[in-house]
Amino acid sequence: MMASVLFSLLALSSSVACTCWAASGPVVANYSSLGLNTVPHNLSSWTTILDLSYNSIHTLEVADFSYMSQLKVLNMSNNKLTHLDCNVFQFNEMLEHVDFTHNQLKNISGTFPKTLRHLDISFNDFKTAVICKGFGNLLQLEYLGISAAEIQKSDFEAITHVQLHYALIELQRLSYYDNGSIPLLNTKHLHIILPGQQSDPRWVLFDAVNTTKSLELSNITGWHVKDDLKKFMEDIAKHSTVSHLTLRRVNLIWPYLISAFQCIWHSSVEKLHIYDLYLSGIITKASFHYSNTSMKEIVIERASTEVFLFNQEDLYRFLAEMNTENITLNSANILFMVCPSKPSTFQNIVFEDNAITDDIFSDCKTLTQLRSLSLSKNKLENLERISSMTQNMPSLKHLDVSNNFLHYNREDCTWSQSIVSLNLESCELTNSVFLCLPKSLRTLNLKNNEIAHIPQGMTELEDLTQLNLASNRLADLPDCSFFKNLMVFSVQSNQISSPSLESLEHCRKVNEFDAGHNPFRCDCDIKHFTKIGKTSPGKFIGWPDTYVCEHPEDVKGILLKDVSIPVIYCNVYLLIAVIVLPTVFSAALVISLCRYFDGLWYLKMFCQWTRTKHRVSRTKNGYEEIQRDVAFHAFISYSEYDASWVKNTLLPNIEKNNSIRICQHERNFVAGKSIVENIINCIDNSYKSIFVLSPHFVQSEWCHYELYFAHHKLYTESTDNLVLILLEPIPQYIIPSKYYKLKALMSQRTYLEWPKETGKHGLFWANLRAAININLSNPEDQSSSSVPSVPDVSSSHSC
Ligand SMILES: *[C@@H]1O[C@H](CO)[C@@H](O)[C@H](O)[C@H]1NC(C)=O
Ligand SMILES: *[C@@H]1O[C@H](CO)[C@@H](O)[C@H](O)[C@H]1NC(C)=O
Ligand SMILES: *[C@@H]1O[C@H](CO)[C@@H](O)[C@H](O)[C@H]1NC(C)=O
Ligand SMILES: *[C@@H]1O[C@H](CO)[C@@H](O)[C@H](O)[C@H]1NC(C)=O
Ligand SMILES: *[C@@H]1O[C@H](CO)[C@@H](O)[C@H](O)[C@H]1NC(C)=O
Ligand SMILES: *[C@@H]1O[C@H](CO)[C@@H](O)[C@H](O)[C@H]1NC(C)=O
Ligand SMILES: *[C@@H]1O[C@H](CO)[C@@H](O)[C@H](O)[C@H]1NC(C)=O
Ligand SMILES: *[C@@H]1O[C@H](CO)[C@@H](O)[C@H](O)[C@H]1NC(C)=O
Ligand SMILES: *[C@@H]1O[C@H](CO)[C@@H](O)[C@H](O)[C@H]1NC(C)=O
Repeated sequence: MMASVLFSLLALSSSVACTCWAASGPVVANYSSLGLNTVPHNLSSWTTILDLSYNSIHTLEVADFSYMSQLKVLNMSNNKLTHLDCNVFQFNEMLEHVDFTHNQLKNISGTFPKTLRHLDISFNDFKTAVICKGFGNLLQLEYLGISAAEIQKSDFEAITHVQLHYALIELQRLSYYDNGSIPLLNTKHLHIILPGQQSDPRWVLFDAVNTTKSLELSNITGWHVKDDLKKFMEDIAKHSTVSHLTLRRVNLIWPYLISAFQCIWHSSVEKLHIYDLYLSGIITKASFHYSNTSMKEIVIERASTEVFLFNQEDLYRFLAEMNTENITLNSANILFMVCPSKPSTFQNIVFEDNAITDDIFSDCKTLTQLRSLSLSKNKLENLERISSMTQNMPSLKHLDVSNNFLHYNREDCTWSQSIVSLNLESCELTNSVFLCLPKSLRTLNLKNNEIAHIPQGMTELEDLTQLNLASNRLADLPDCSFFKNLMVFSVQSNQISSPSLESLEHCRKVNEFDAGHNPFRCDCDIKHFTKIGKTSPGKFIGWPDTYVCEHPEDVKGILLKDVSIPVIYCNVYLLIAVIVLPTVFSAALVISLCRYFDGLWYLKMFCQWTRTKHRVSRTKNGYEEIQRDVAFHAFISYSEYDASWVKNTLLPNIEKNNSIRICQHERNFVAGKSIVENIINCIDNSYKSIFVLSPHFVQSEWCHYELYFAHHKLYTESTDNLVLILLEPIPQYIIPSKYYKLKALMSQRTYLEWPKETGKHGLFWANLRAAININLSNPEDQSSSSVPSVPDVSSSHSC
């Protein structure tokens, strides 16, 4: 019980989900051209469109479609069905569109679902149209395509009440036609595929032209009319109520074509469209009565001829003198067109996809009513010549010369001042084209040319509201100041990486702007642009999908709208405030802290200390020798002015625990020797020499040691024996220039600076001790041997 409730709940939820899914779009099953012999049974039951065309299916069964309750469209064309039982669709209550064309159907039994709108069973092997009797209930039917060899009135009587939009009757195998059958059809548009050669289609045509206003006839070729063809055509023309006649696949000789045209000219037809016209026979000058016609539009597309050697003028004259409103000659291999001999009624001329050159309509003054001219896809080359062609067309509003080989040679352009729209798409135009444009333009299409920017000196196009510059070579947005009233503007697919804001400002009136498919550079400069896109997406056509970053590499392929560039990167002041200022501030803080606590000094002293330690350990082996030779750790030399510091501060501190002995000239001088001898003696007996440097020392004492250094070359051999204490800073200028050695020493060697702050003294002493400390043998003996007896070195000598 519980399980079954659960199951039905599941089934319910899944069916709801599927319905929603099915509603989101058609489910297409395309099994076209798979060589199938039967309808596959493993299709989705939600299939709405099933294409089984181009297979070899020869039978249908109820089980083939019964499970596809959503089926709307079924294409069974080009299969091998010979019989169709409509009951196979009894469960397809939504079926609207079935196509059984190009099978071998001979009979149809049963009835189609009433929902059917489109039923095509043409190009089959039906002998009669009796099957139509079964379609009387298809009141929704809009399109009916049938084929038959024999047509009887009774067949169509069954469906006269069905209001069709389009009826196709394929009569290629026609053998019997019951007069008055076709007019029984109730349709807006009638398309008859006429029987081929060797047949007389007279009575079919006679009825066809009296059935609908819009008639389409296919396969008009080689009729075998026993009586006078001209009479035959005149009869038909007289009987006609058709206003819009379309002829497809017409293959007639030139005189017949002229006759047919003449009949049609004087019939009810207002629009004549001919597709795939093949002319045979020799083309000659035609005598044609243009007057008294209701003809307004002639369209001929895809025309060719069997003969090539004929007087072109005969053909072109025949066409040029036509007194219709519209004439279209597309893909007809036209090389030229003559100027109508008298004021022409042509309002719209379309000569597309031909081989027309610049000579067309030059100096032609009879096209005074011409409003629209399209010469797209031809061989036009010279823009100046096109402009001078238009100057005799005072009503010309729309000119399409796209897809030509146009270029501008900077000669004078003389456009008709009535032109409001100009299509120059896919030509080979460059920037200079802006110097040759009609001033009155409202719409300008320059898509797919070679424009890189808008040149200075162009005249303002005040009325221009639409400009298409897509697929050019623009590197930035062009300046809208030449087009103040622009509203629709496309620059898509150019080379714009950073649309400049200034240009965007000038384009203020633009309300449909397309800049998609450009290689955007997503940095700060794009921010404002992105903002506009986000705030008014309706203004940017294609937003957001076609606006994609190209640079820099890390955001390539990301939509502009999804790229976030932090605000501070882009605002210089903010950047200063957020990054630079704190950096400066913390640097200043560090510096002032260093100053206050003299971090640098500590660092320097520490370095010195470790270096000394390192050196001591490196030269350990040399110690034994030194121990034997010297009696003192250090000789100390100072100026008289610094004597009190040396005696009261340095000596007590350094000799504190009797481990270090200093040779001080006052205490340790040997009487009877000269001062210099004494000094040298003292130095020689000491492991190191300490010099207490101060401005006084430099000025008064240095000379003594100059001499010593000169003797012993100590300076050049090894300066390791020197310990310099900088008691007071010595400005360089105080040092006499002759003491270059001192200068060199001071710049080379690091010296110990006497710190003013008492807190740092401890480290200073430690450093000094480390610099001079070694183990000396027999200290008592050494010290007693040199009895001090004292002349003052500093006071008694000068250099
Ligand atoms: C099925 O595929 C063929 C080409 O194989 C295509 O021509 C046809 O349009 C497709 N049918 C549908 C319904 O899309
Ligand atoms: C149905 O079966 C055929 C072959 O048996 C297979 O190619 C096709 O993909 C199947 N279709 C579905 C919807 O499962
Ligand atoms: C079959 O008919 C459907 C509906 O008209 C159409 O979309 C489809 O293209 C047709 N298939 C072929 C191969 O023409
Ligand atoms: C066509 O089918 C119907 C109904 O099945 C039948 O009455 C009729 O005789 C058949 N006609 C032909 C020519 O087979
Ligand atoms: C159709 O009518 C014409 C005369 O209007 C007649 O000559 C012709 O024989 C008729 N055709 C048939 C099949 O009755
Ligand atoms: C169409 O033909 C029928 C009979 O041939 C005729 O009575 C009717 O007037 C014709 N319709 C027009 C509009 O000529
Ligand atoms: C038209 O006639 C040509 C030959 O005259 C034939 O090949 C073609 O099948 C006919 N029907 C259609 C619809 O083209
Ligand atoms: C023009 O047509 C009208 C009636 O439509 C007719 O009276 C007149 O004779 C025709 N003129 C010519 C020259 O065919
Ligand atoms: C002539 O062509 C123009 C432009 O295509 C169209 O708007 C107009 O309806 C046509 N006139 C006739 C009588 O078909």
